[in-house]
Amino acid sequence: MKIAHISDLHFGAHDQTVCDILLAHILDAEVDLVIASGDITQSSTDAEFAQAQAFFARFPMPVFMVPGNHDLPGMDLTRFINPFGRYKRFLTEDLNPELATPLVHIKGINTARRILPHWNWANGSVSARQCRQVEESFAVSSAPWRLFVLHHPLMSPKEFPLDITVFNSAELLKTIAETQIDIVLAGHQHHAYIETRQECVMEEDHMTLFVSASTAMSTRIRRQPQGFNMLHFTETSVRIDMLRYDNGAFMIFEALTHTKAVDPA
Ligand SMILES: [Fe+2]
Ligand SMILES: [Fe+2]
Repeated sequence: MKIAHISDLHFGAHDQTVCDILLAHILDAEVDLVIASGDITQSSTDAEFAQAQAFFARFPMPVFMVPGNHDLPGMDLTRFINPFGRYKRFLTEDLNPELATPLVHIKGINTARRILPHWNWANGSVSARQCRQVEESFAVSSAPWRLFVLHHPLMSPKEFPLDITVFNSAELLKTIAETQIDIVLAGHQHHAYIETRQECVMEEDHMTLFVSASTAMSTRIRRQPQGFNMLHFTETSVRIDMLRYDNGAFMIFEALTHTKAVDPA
């Protein structure tokens, strides 16, 4: 199973050439699923969401997405009255989606908030209810791989381009460890990296990979060019290719293969 992980498309602040090349690359690769981890638009306008809707309509495969902080309206009344109204109208009603396939079980949550107890409302938050939803979602899954999607990253890369706070992240990290999630996909920093975390849960070693994607097509570049990730799953292993845009094409610049520990039973 092949999954393309794209993030931070920022329609409205996007580079149309990169957008067209990204679309062609994903279509050529014949992926089974596209995952978009938030900041689909730049300013959450009707016009930007319409562009995003038209972009996703080009994919013949399913698209799984969660919102980001840029998918909320700015400082106007809509932000407080109906924060995800446009996102729901143009893209999808479900802010905390779930997809079960025989090989990979995927759960997503919305970490963007209309208001936060912090000066920077671009930060994220997770609720106790969402942690319970994650537990319940994976409790009924027998798929060999557990994939979790959110916009705001929970791990810091070695090279840190943006300071991030995710409220209640400690509870979510505990849930991720206890639920034995294999891979966490995020964005927000516009910086691709993979961090690992090994937890000893119920006497069983388990590794969680925290995978972030760069911005797929926006002009909001930080330390890296545009990029995205490709995940190739078999029953027992996953290969993650990290691609970056260079001179008219997306090329692999780093790859990691992770093999699941074989269940002694
Ligand atoms: Fe972003
Ligand atoms: Fe963001």
